[in-house]
Amino acid sequence: MSVRIIEVGPRDGLQNEKKILDTQVKAEFILKLLSAGFQTIEATSFVRADKIPQMADAQELMKSLIAAKVDLNKLPCLVPNLKGLEVAGDLGVREIAVFTATSEKFNQKNINASIDESFVRIAEVCNTAKKSGKKVRGYVSTVFGCPYEGKTSLETLKKVTQSLFDLGCYEVSLGDTIGIGHPEQVQKIYKEVKKHFDTSKLAWHFHDTRGIALANIFAAYQEGARAFDSSAGGLGGCPYAKGASGNVATEDVVQMFNLMEVDTGVDLAKLADASTYILQALGRSSASKAYQAIIAEKV
Ligand code: HMG
Ligand code: MG
Repeated sequence: MSVRIIEVGPRDGLQNEKKILDTQVKAEFILKLLSAGFQTIEATSFVRADKIPQMADAQELMKSLIAAKVDLNKLPCLVPNLKGLEVAGDLGVREIAVFTATSEKFNQKNINASIDESFVRIAEVCNTAKKSGKKVRGYVSTVFGCPYEGKTSLETLKKVTQSLFDLGCYEVSLGDTIGIGHPEQVQKIYKEVKKHFDTSKLAWHFHDTRGIALANIFAAYQEGARAFDSSAGGLGGCPYAKGASGNVATEDVVQMFNLMEVDTGVDLAKLADASTYILQALGRSSASKAYQAIIAEKV
């Protein structure tokens, strides 16, 4: 048995860290993650620098990685619109990720667009990306709840997921943006989406805001999920909950699957080295229990 882990720390993690790192430090982090065995690492995002200053060096970062002769097929980048795609495309980015949400209010705050408006942009991006042979991954945020609207709709989830597949996304990642989901809800949503979609084309993106992410991953795995987004060291935080954890820590996910003898393709010791490197650069510790255990065993 195996699962696929999509490492999103360099993008989803670092976009939520207060400290803005040097481009070279980010590049080195990504190189260390590549050497830990990840096949997919979301490297950065081509968004407005005034909105997400942590990602303002997206161009320099990609140039630096290209100079280091990385395989760009392993480094997707988040792109909100044609402008972002243009810049990413000029650099030679091979895979992009587009994003929307099940919540109107969340989309307005995040991308200044309604759900319908977001699909006007996403359609332009997907159609243009397809012409140059780029792979496109889709994200749906607020699947398990929204910081502004509370409960979100399963009907909207099905509608936006279908639209992302219709536009050519090879995979759609369902996000628990604020870490509010719980295992029974995961099972319910999984069973519902299974009626409509090929679940091998769905990934699951849990934030660990309330410490439930690993339980949610296990619930999804038991239902049949085999692709999970996570962040080295549990980088990041949650803009809606001060002091909270970020994405589920990749170490926790890999450790759990290692113990279950489910292959992730990730070398846990090398992953922890990459996390140590970036955590030191950020001047912070990790809340990941697995990371802490690995470090404790070393000393
Ligand atoms: P907008 O202001 O609506 O865009 O931004 P606009 O088309 O009206 O343009 C306004 C100005 O922005 C113009 O500049 C554009 O050139 C510029 P001006 O002429 O005034 O000087 N602009 C851009 N600049 C750089 N890159 C671009 C770009 N586009 C326009 N791509 C936009 C809309 C979406 C771009 C903006 O709201 C934005 O960048 N928001 C940030 C969104 C973001 O990165 N959010 C976090 C990632 S999503 C996430 O974390 C969730 C996820 O992890 C899953 C989960 O957990 O749920 C994926
Ligand atoms: Mg996220």
